[in-house]
Amino acid sequence: MTATAKRLSLDRAAETCELKTMAQNDRITIKRPDDWHVHFRDEAMMRAVVPATAAQFGRAIVMPNLVPPVTDTAAAEAYRDRILTAIPDAADFTPLMAAYLTDETDPEMLRDGAEKGVFSAVKLYPAGATTNSASGVTDIANVMPVLDVMQEIGLPLLIHGEVTDPDIDIFDREAVFIDRILQPLTDKLPALKVVFEHVTTKEAVDFVAAGDASRLGATITAHHLVINRTDIFKGGIRPHLYCLPIAKREAHRQALRKAATSGDPRYFLGTDTAPHARHLKEAACGCAGIYSAPVALEVYATVFEEEDALDKLEAFASLNGPAFYGLPVNETTVTLKRESWQVPQSIDTGSGDALIPFMAGETLGWKLEG
Ligand code: DOR
Ligand code: ZN
Repeated sequence: MTATAKRLSLDRAAETCELKTMAQNDRITIKRPDDWHVHFRDEAMMRAVVPATAAQFGRAIVMPNLVPPVTDTAAAEAYRDRILTAIPDAADFTPLMAAYLTDETDPEMLRDGAEKGVFSAVKLYPAGATTNSASGVTDIANVMPVLDVMQEIGLPLLIHGEVTDPDIDIFDREAVFIDRILQPLTDKLPALKVVFEHVTTKEAVDFVAAGDASRLGATITAHHLVINRTDIFKGGIRPHLYCLPIAKREAHRQALRKAATSGDPRYFLGTDTAPHARHLKEAACGCAGIYSAPVALEVYATVFEEEDALDKLEAFASLNGPAFYGLPVNETTVTLKRESWQVPQSIDTGSGDALIPFMAGETLGWKLEG
C-alpha cells in the first residue's frame, strides 16, 4: 500500500469510528444512578419533589435537616415511611436515611440505628452553616466519642464543610474549613469514612485527591459544575442560583469539572437538590438552595459531553458512590437520549407554592427516556 493509500484508509477507519461513536452517543445507557445528597423536606413539599428524584435515581441519601431535625432512629424510620408514601408506584427507588449529628447525639443510638439498617450515614452541619443547621455541631470536640464509634462500625460521616466564623469571607469558608477542621479530623480518625459534601473549590478537590479512596470521597452537584459566582449576579441578583456553599470563581468550577469527569472513584454524584418555595427565594433575605432534581441527570450529561467525557458519566453517577458506601450497583439501567427540551419556568407544588427549577426556561440537549 502506498503511503497515500494507507493514509486514506486510516482516515476512513477514523471516520467510520467517529460515525459509530456519534450514533452510539445519541443514546447513553448507564446503570441506574444514585443521588448521594438530596433534600426532600416534608409534607406537601416532600410529596411534590420526591417523584422527580425517584424518576432518575435508584437510591438517594436523604438529608435530615427538617425542623425539628431527624436526630434519632424513630424519627428517621417515621420520615422514611412518609417518603415511601410519596414514591410513585412505578418508580424503582429506595431512600437511604442520614442522622443529623448534634452535640448531644448518643453513639449507642447510632450504632443501634445502623445495625437495624435505618441509618446509612450521619450528617455533620456546623451549627449555623446553612439552612436548618441551628441544631448542628457547635464544636467538633463535642462529637469525638460519636465519631469514634462511627469509625469502629464503618458508618460514613457526611460533612457540610464550611466554617461559620462570621469574620471569614463567605467565599473562603470551605477552604478554611479544610485547614481548621477537616485535616485535623481526618488525621485524628484515619479510618473514619468521610464524604466531603458538595465541594466547590480547587482546595477541596485537591484535599480529596490526596486522600485514600476507600475512606474519603466527595459529592459534586450539577449546579456547581455549571455556574460560577459571576453568574449569581448576571444582569441583576439571581436568587435561584444562591446556595451554600456558594458558587466560587471560574477556576474552581474548572477544577470541579475536571474532578467529576476524571473517572476517579473518590468523586460521585450528589445533587444537593434543595427546594424552597419561590416566595422564600425571591425575598429580601432569600433561602439558600437550588432545586435541581427535575434536570439533574440531563445537566450532568451535558457537562460530561462538554468535557468530552461521556464515557466517565456512569462511573461518576452510578458506580463510584455504591463502591464508597459498600452497596451493590443498581441492577437496572437508565437511558438518556439526545433531544432538545425546554426546562419548565416554574413547577407547581400542588399546594399553592411554586418551585423554580435549576435551568428554568433553558434548553437542554439530553432527556431521560421513559
Ligand atoms: O443551599 C443549600 N441548601 N445548602 C445547604 O447546605 C442546605 C440546603 C437546604 O436545605 O436548603
Ligand atoms: Zn445539602
